[in-house]
Amino acid sequence: MIVCRSASEIEKLARVNALVARVLKELAAAVKPGVTTAQLDELAEQRLRKAGAEPAFKGYHGYPATICASVNEQVVHGIPSGRALVEGDIVSIDMGAKLGGFYGDSAVTVPVGRVTPEAERLLKVTKEALDRAVATVRAGARVSDIGAAVQSFVEAQGFSVVREFVGHGIGTALHEEPQIPNYGTAGRGPRLAEGMTLAIEPMVNAGKPAVKVLGDGWTAVTKDKGLSAHFEHTVVVTEDGCRVLTLPDVAAEVDGPSTSSGPSRAESRDGRTASAAG
Ligand code: MF3
Ligand code: CO
Repeated sequence: MIVCRSASEIEKLARVNALVARVLKELAAAVKPGVTTAQLDELAEQRLRKAGAEPAFKGYHGYPATICASVNEQVVHGIPSGRALVEGDIVSIDMGAKLGGFYGDSAVTVPVGRVTPEAERLLKVTKEALDRAVATVRAGARVSDIGAAVQSFVEAQGFSVVREFVGHGIGTALHEEPQIPNYGTAGRGPRLAEGMTLAIEPMVNAGKPAVKVLGDGWTAVTKDKGLSAHFEHTVVVTEDGCRVLTLPDVAAEVDGPSTSSGPSRAESRDGRTASAAG
């Protein structure tokens, strides 16, 4: 069953997802040559706990950290370590949090200093794939419209889409129904309805789509050792589009002292609402 959230539940989801977005933005800004992924993880956990939230990944099926930090050919679920980032790397930072009984989840891929033109293009294409996926979301659309938008765009750009990991519903659990593949044919699968909350997360490889999991039981890498990128937003389905809950520019406002009044009505004007039209 896919749950539709009430207005008050959506505000709780907005709050935790805004926190995730704000912390993720701070982590992205902290990325530079010499910084270790363990340092990023420590900063993330500090920030979440200071805000009264808990890391969502830590302890999830035994996962040991607050963030996933996946460098270069690592696709997802890279475990933070003493590895220092070096100029030219790309690092995908994925973070989930729990606050007030609800979950938030978002990911970004960040360049470390100057990166190759191919890496730059991979980040741009993966981010745009997420934006195009989000733009398909509205009440009445189908789950597979999301993956179809990702796959057709990514493959037209000469890159490939990872099949082994998918997006998901999110709410009072980190992973809820439905599963949201990043590939497939439009017009299939469950219909989206107002109030469904979805974590949409394309993973895009510069080379072939195949991945394997390393001996640590977590880190997924590309089999061909090509670069991989990952962007993720949590959104709530609305009648004519969706509201992206993981935008950093609204995070301070939603997480600030006036939370009780909920989000301002300016949300569709300042771009927080994505419309399927056009
Ligand atoms: N965003 C990823 C997902 O939703 C990260 C999960 S990491 C895990 O699957 F540690 F929680 F598994
Ligand atoms: Co997710």
